[in-house]
Amino acid sequence: MTNLAVIGSQWGDEGKGKIVDLLTEKADVVVRFQGGNNAGHTLVVGGETYALHLVPSGILHPEKVSVVGSGVVVDPDVLMREIESLVQRGVKISPKNLLISEKAHIILPYHRLLDEAREKKAADGKIGTTGRGIGPAYEDKASRLGLRMGDLSDMDYFSQRLENNLQEKNCLFVNLYGLPPQDSRTVLEKAKRWAEFLGPYIGNAFSFIQKASDQGRNILFEGAQGVQLDVDHGTYPFVTSSNPTAGAVATGTGLAPKLLHHVTGLVKAYTSRVGEGPFPTELTDETGRKIRETGAEFGTTTGRPRRCGWLDAVVVKTAVQLCGMDSLAVTKLDVLRGLPKIYMATAYELDGQKIDHIPASLKDFSRAVPVYEEFAGFSQDVRAARKLSDLPKEARVYLDRLSEAVGAPAGLVSVGPERNETIVLADYFKP
Ligand code: GDP
Ligand code: IMO
Ligand code: MG
Repeated sequence: MTNLAVIGSQWGDEGKGKIVDLLTEKADVVVRFQGGNNAGHTLVVGGETYALHLVPSGILHPEKVSVVGSGVVVDPDVLMREIESLVQRGVKISPKNLLISEKAHIILPYHRLLDEAREKKAADGKIGTTGRGIGPAYEDKASRLGLRMGDLSDMDYFSQRLENNLQEKNCLFVNLYGLPPQDSRTVLEKAKRWAEFLGPYIGNAFSFIQKASDQGRNILFEGAQGVQLDVDHGTYPFVTSSNPTAGAVATGTGLAPKLLHHVTGLVKAYTSRVGEGPFPTELTDETGRKIRETGAEFGTTTGRPRRCGWLDAVVVKTAVQLCGMDSLAVTKLDVLRGLPKIYMATAYELDGQKIDHIPASLKDFSRAVPVYEEFAGFSQDVRAARKLSDLPKEARVYLDRLSEAVGAPAGLVSVGPERNETIVLADYFKP
């Protein structure tokens, strides 16, 4: 039995959805443990594309159980729509294969409103959030004002807490943001529908995961976002409001940390970032545009063009250190095809000094100049490669240097968006 975590090692959108879907074949349970519907995880199977935001990426395997853990923030409207649209497309979803933690906090309509109002008011200082209410929902969780999925089973309790919470929020809406006060009745009407539709899926995810682990079943933990968006260890304040690092597997599900057996770090063969914040290897030139076009780097959640740049091995090494990554899953190698030269940053220069780590201060990180190593490009189409020896030598040299620079071997290399466009090297789920 193996408990395996898939973690984004950059700024998100590394291809976690594809890899989780692929690895689910050998897993029994797939668990989301942090983030919310700011995540956009894309699966491509047999020419069909599925964009998932809250439903775990194991859902296309109906015999496996997908779990939304306690560390996730759930927008029930989004979850209901996602379930409905997947079912319409023939995906089997029932309380037998989807479990939502009763402890997961709810993103309420006024969280979304607050997220948007803040960003608007901040103007130049905005974070560039997905506008999905993620920050305000986690704030309410931390300030003990939040409502949880389990609270939907007791409407009196729900309504009482909602009134209390709205009282405070309405002060902000009216006095600070010049918005009309929000009415609790509209939220309560919605909540009744949520309870009816989602009620059968809500349960004790902690117990379920404990039992699955005790029984030696293979559990796959699906990270959202990426290490540099971590609220503690990322490029604060240009981060999300949860911990996309491996430690959150424990806090967001209740699995004891020592029971996590393998952490694989998702690494895009280059770098992308959505929203504001420092990005030393960003390419604002023609090469950046070419990577964005070839890699179809437009947000799954918001449709925004993603900022693109060269691979930053300092960023990936930081992720390896923070998460104890045992292996790397390198994705989108095919996108680099046709570039005459490829570059990888393996250090930065700051005030004339060469440094091999991310400076703690955001100001310094914004000033850090990447120190690049140059690699020969490759022109061969790699999408049909199924073993390392199918790859051109130039691509293998690049992958080897990445592993060496960050201190973790490649366990998997993805060469196209389809489930089968993958070179699998590691045996993740050992008997
Ligand atoms: P996630 O948020 O980490 O799950 O990543 P996204 O789904 O937001 O973005 C990754 C995008 O790249 C999706 O459109 C995937 O279908 C696509 N993708 C994943 N792996 C590969 C790959 O190896 N090659 C190419 N060309 N596309 C890939
Ligand atoms: P997946 O799981 C890329 C970014 C937003 C913004 C910052 C804060 O698909 O990799 P938030 O709405 O979370 O308060 O926004 O974080 N962001 C992501 N960027 N991929 C994601 O998820 C992201 N989730 C949030 O663009 O910069
Ligand atoms: Mg994404």
